[in-house]
Amino acid sequence: MRGLLPIAAASWASGALAAKPSSTEANVAACCSKLAEGFPSQVVSTSDPLYSSWNQRWADTAELKPNCIFRPQSSADVSAAVKVLAKGAGKSPEDRCPFSLVAGGHTPWAGANNIHTGVALELSQLNQVVISNDRSYVQLGAGARWHDAYVKTDGEGLVYPGGRCPDVGVAGLTLGGGYSWFSGEMGFVADNVVNYEVVLASGEIVNANEKQHTDLWEALKGGSNNFGIVTRFDMRATEHDQQVYGGLVIVPASLTGEVLCALHNFTDDSTGVHKTAGLTIEYYIDTVTGDEQILLWLIDTDVSASHASLQPFFDMEPKYLNQVYQTSIADYPASIPPVSRVLMADATFVNDLEAIKAVYEVTVEVKDSLSHVADLVWDFQFEPLPRHIIEASNARGGNVLGLGDAEDDMLIVFIMPLWQDAQYDADINNAAARWVECVQQATNALGNGHRFEFANYAAGFQDVMKSYGPANHKFLRDVAKTYDPKGLFQKAVPGGYKLDKKPAKT
Ligand SMILES: Cc1cc2nc3c(=O)[nH]c(=O)nc-3n(C[C@H](O)[C@H](O)[C@H](O)COP(=O)(O)OP(=O)(O)OC[C@H]3O[C@@H](n4cnc5c(N)ncnc54)[C@H](O)[C@@H]3O)c2cc1C
Ligand SMILES: *[C@@H]1O[C@H](CO)[C@@H](O)[C@H](O)[C@H]1NC(C)=O
Repeated sequence: MRGLLPIAAASWASGALAAKPSSTEANVAACCSKLAEGFPSQVVSTSDPLYSSWNQRWADTAELKPNCIFRPQSSADVSAAVKVLAKGAGKSPEDRCPFSLVAGGHTPWAGANNIHTGVALELSQLNQVVISNDRSYVQLGAGARWHDAYVKTDGEGLVYPGGRCPDVGVAGLTLGGGYSWFSGEMGFVADNVVNYEVVLASGEIVNANEKQHTDLWEALKGGSNNFGIVTRFDMRATEHDQQVYGGLVIVPASLTGEVLCALHNFTDDSTGVHKTAGLTIEYYIDTVTGDEQILLWLIDTDVSASHASLQPFFDMEPKYLNQVYQTSIADYPASIPPVSRVLMADATFVNDLEAIKAVYEVTVEVKDSLSHVADLVWDFQFEPLPRHIIEASNARGGNVLGLGDAEDDMLIVFIMPLWQDAQYDADINNAAARWVECVQQATNALGNGHRFEFANYAAGFQDVMKSYGPANHKFLRDVAKTYDPKGLFQKAVPGGYKLDKKPAKT
């Protein structure tokens, strides 16, 4: 409340009698009723029978209770809503409604894509998937899911980078940068966006691309929800037979030594660059049954290639599962059904075998510190980020992630613990924060740390925008000031990774 005094005093001095800002509750009530008036069939309140189905998220941990949910059908609807939300009860310039944005709803932490005491904008109806006339790009609505897009473009003979799990949303994945099976050839998903259609804080609908609003175009390549509501992504497309070779191999955790060594080899560009081959190593440790598996997600986006870089993984013995075959992108198996309680946290480091082993040790130690958590599944994953991905990214103009001048092959690592009972939330959150610190300490001590924190697997406590480095962080703040001078997306949209993160509560 302290901040209000100077404003009131200034308006008093200028002769105007400033009205006191309304309470958050009064603003939200005003926004919900204005939206319901303008769009009667597109707004639900908590008492509506449709409310719970419109309020679903991938993880229970993300479910909050907004006062009403608005489902726009078009970018014009989004624009109208932003004007309502920015005004709130409208008695004072300080009035506005807190709101949240949800596309595919896959961010697991509470508050990233949902809100208490506020309005939820649910973008699922903005789900068009349209190939441009010249076939050079695909228009993807912000509410589209990747699998939907792949199915709609199946048989069309072209590909574009995107998510590797079917139900994930186009908007969230792309605004966080986006790691794809095509990253070796095409860089990050965001690097391939040739145009964003964006609703700004003023309600104006603009296009951001190489020629118009270029700074906004650049800022959105990793800048998340800090600048506006993206309603459509035009994603560069490439002619391709849409066939891939790969799938899932599962081996026992006793092969850890071999798997980590093979991971290091695969991520090492100095022993050969294989742009079409992709890999993710996923540990799945069920602490209840004691079952420990390593899931090897393997793919070659060129079915006619030799797949030589993947051969060490195909050859591993024994195997619990061997599901490797040629398939269309639309049929690549990777669905992860909705989950109960889950958290993600991530870190990045240089591809070095000692560092990989140190990260593995730290990750197992943190799991061991949670032995009191009933039903804990300790899942963690390594994603290669070899230098050739960065080169492909730079060749497409790069992004704001701050990786463009990284000279080393790197790896992203993230944990994804799953559990059932909310009483353990705080313990797991604290353990995850400790894990990030320990991984950074261990890799820094070996001279192999990196500051980058990938938005797409980050926890709510991570300061993602700052991790892009000082120059990118300043650029993002400047662009936000240009396009959102009153800070609507900083102040009224609390969810996600903000430009100036408040220190975490301890
Ligand atoms: C099973 C699974 C598989 C995954 N696979 C991958 C993968 O292959 N590659 C990868 O990079 N990541 C992957 N991720 C991470 C994923 O990209 C992030 O969780 C991402 O945020 C999900 O996008 P969404 O639209 O589903 O999420 P949401 O939670 O709906 O949105 C994410 C964030 O974006 C903001 N936002 C949403 N829509 C808009 C919009 N239109 N304009 C502005 N801001 C908006 C929201 O406010 C929110 O903060 C995966 C996650 C899961 C759970
Ligand atoms: C890793 O590469 C080295 C050197 O090429 C090779 O000797 C070793 O067998 C490889 N390890 C695995 C597990 O593939």
